[in-house]
Amino acid sequence: MAGELWEGRFEGGPAEALQALNDSFGFDRRMYKEDIAGSRAHVTMLESVGLLTGDERDQILVGLDQVQEEMASGSFEAVPSDEDIHTAVERRVTELIGEVGGKIHTGRSRNDQVALDVRMWTRAEILEGLIPLVLRFQQTLIEHADAVGEAYLPGYTHLQQAQPVALAHHLLAHVWALVRDVDRLVATVDRLDSSPLGAGALAGSSLPVDPVQTATALGFTKPFDNSLDAVSDRDYVAEVLFDLSLLGVHLSRIGEELILWASTEFGFITLDDSFSTGSSMMPQKKNPDIAELARGKAGRLIGNLTGFLATLKGLPLTYNKDMQEDKEPMFDSCRTMGLTLLALDGMVSTLTFNTEVMAAQADSPFAAATDLADFLVTGGMAFRAAHGVVGELVRKALDGEGTLPDLVAAHPDLGADAARLLEPGASFRQRTSKGGGAPAAVLPQLDAAKAQLKADTARLQVRQELLP
Ligand code: ARG
Repeated sequence: MAGELWEGRFEGGPAEALQALNDSFGFDRRMYKEDIAGSRAHVTMLESVGLLTGDERDQILVGLDQVQEEMASGSFEAVPSDEDIHTAVERRVTELIGEVGGKIHTGRSRNDQVALDVRMWTRAEILEGLIPLVLRFQQTLIEHADAVGEAYLPGYTHLQQAQPVALAHHLLAHVWALVRDVDRLVATVDRLDSSPLGAGALAGSSLPVDPVQTATALGFTKPFDNSLDAVSDRDYVAEVLFDLSLLGVHLSRIGEELILWASTEFGFITLDDSFSTGSSMMPQKKNPDIAELARGKAGRLIGNLTGFLATLKGLPLTYNKDMQEDKEPMFDSCRTMGLTLLALDGMVSTLTFNTEVMAAQADSPFAAATDLADFLVTGGMAFRAAHGVVGELVRKALDGEGTLPDLVAAHPDLGADAARLLEPGASFRQRTSKGGGAPAAVLPQLDAAKAQLKADTARLQVRQELLP
């Protein structure tokens, strides 16, 4: 039963029930690259401050290379004492190169080590995995916005038809929400840019370790300022879980719209077969499962966030084993988000917009009521009075006293010019104010969105290049 890294103080080995609860190797082994990179930087630093000879360092580096290879190829054989990725790597390195492997942990604790690994894993996952997927989805929306030209649909408030807008305008609204998501993720990565290595268990070290050297080697701008904070801080985990929750909420809202739009009742879009599912019983069905899952997964992402905040809230300084609960929600949220973004992007990029159906809905003369009121305002009437005049005409039309266009044409303050606003596709072209829904206003917006995407791609690249 021996073999635990901490066995010296213990007379017997750990109970099976303890190991079953305590071990994290099953899920933290995915951080093997980060763990080994951290160890490489650490032993290199140990040599440069005189705590290892050059030969010892080289032996350990060879051992680490071998373990990395085993992990990557799947040939790594775990033993019961491999409590977590940190103990597993050290155990195997020592097995491979002998006693000198025991020097790898000089001036280091698993507490600063795990904090380092999670920061590095998170940084790479966001910069190389998730942000590129968000950018790609933005690109898809922008391409659609470009391609749909002057197509228009009803804009909604309260899910009631409100005012027609350009379809491109609607699509770009989602792009701007995603711009904020990217910004948040980048800011989260920038904030976690401090290496905890060298904090030791909690209090630093009596050995001449050099946290600046390891920080630099691992692509961090700086090392920690306070060793206690370094090992107990999990803000970056909570932040990523929040960023992904809010991004998940955005995707959920997009999903909900796609579900509505794909329904027979709306009929605004037709989904491609490759991104739709069928029913096992009803032969006619074509279901928007991806959009439903985008909506459903948001619950899971929020659950990961709230669960983890609850884990953290009662913890005194510094490291507490509760913190081991940071990894599973984090891995899960990242994986969930990756899958969702990829599938949703596929669904959106392959769907067809039924622009005639949209236009037919948007051309209901009532949708132009606000524009009629604006017409009266242009003629000098107070908006409140104008609202009343048009409201009365709407009521008359609903009461069957005539069609709205006829009533408008006959009204002394409105007339034929105003009635032209009720012609198909006319009214939304009026809303050319900055950021508004007319094609003329959407053009500069489309350019701005493209420029933003380009800037964010460049911003991402700068950070990717700093990764070790
Ligand atoms: N597996 C642990 C975790 O994920 C690593 C740190 C263990 N530290 C300790 N003092 N037991 O948090």
